[in-house]
Amino acid sequence: MELIHAIKELREAMQQAVAAGKTVGLVPTMGALHAGHASLVARSVRENDVTVVSVFVNPTQFNDKEDLAKYPRTLEADCALLESLGATVVFAPSVEEIYPVPDTRVFSFAPLDTVMEGKYRPGHFNGVAQIVSKLFEMVAPDRAYFGEKDFQQLAIIRALVEQQGYAVDIVGCPIVREEDGLALSSRNARLSAEERERALNISKTLFASREFAKGHSVAETAAFVEQSIAGAEGLRLEYFEIVDGNTLQPVAAWDDSDFVVGCITVFCGDVRLIDNIKYKEPGKQL
Ligand code: PAF
Repeated sequence: MELIHAIKELREAMQQAVAAGKTVGLVPTMGALHAGHASLVARSVRENDVTVVSVFVNPTQFNDKEDLAKYPRTLEADCALLESLGATVVFAPSVEEIYPVPDTRVFSFAPLDTVMEGKYRPGHFNGVAQIVSKLFEMVAPDRAYFGEKDFQQLAIIRALVEQQGYAVDIVGCPIVREEDGLALSSRNARLSAEERERALNISKTLFASREFAKGHSVAETAAFVEQSIAGAEGLRLEYFEIVDGNTLQPVAAWDDSDFVVGCITVFCGDVRLIDNIKYKEPGKQL
């Protein structure tokens, strides 16, 4: 496995891979890797000759400076994990390497980016599009792997690919959860033992809501989730939306779409956690 910090070196490695007729998988990450990332990397290693994992805490997607400062950075441990998974290249550039001059590009994915995270984290998806488009241009991967935990991000990346005409297949990978249900996130590392226990109520509520939804309306199910989080100690709901899984717009009735997802963001102490649950999925009885 090669650890690369410079774009020039990355481009050379990619040119060699293409010249040798190798397929390339890209797993963009911000590091602090956990089993969720590992599942993306393992899948890329299975499906491609070369797997590039980028490790870069992208400042342009943080609208909260404190969140950026507190984001865990664990490159050494990340590299050890990636080596054990069979990654070919780790690309860990500096901020100056990626943004030698400010990136002034403005993307719009409306209406996908005007709701949920887009509403509560203005500019977040513009920053995601800036870094992901740069990575797609540098690596020119055949496939790129993203987790479904960031459900809205995945929809926006697909829209980015369509808008920009990138020749890359976007592979969405299922949420990885701890045995007790907590969705894996790099931010979980910031939870105290007590907060972690409290955070469990997020996934518990979502799972319970899937049962509840079988006999209740969309509005009743949303109220069930909101009340359950409001009643859980130490949690503060930012939003819960039941949306069409493709357009990300709220649905009023279960029959409005064959793909219906509940997306939630909750503060546990000062740690912002997101999760989601599928109520309906095309071709699947949930
Ligand atoms: O999902 C993430 O970790 C980040 O948003 C991504 C896609 C690596 C871009 O910085």
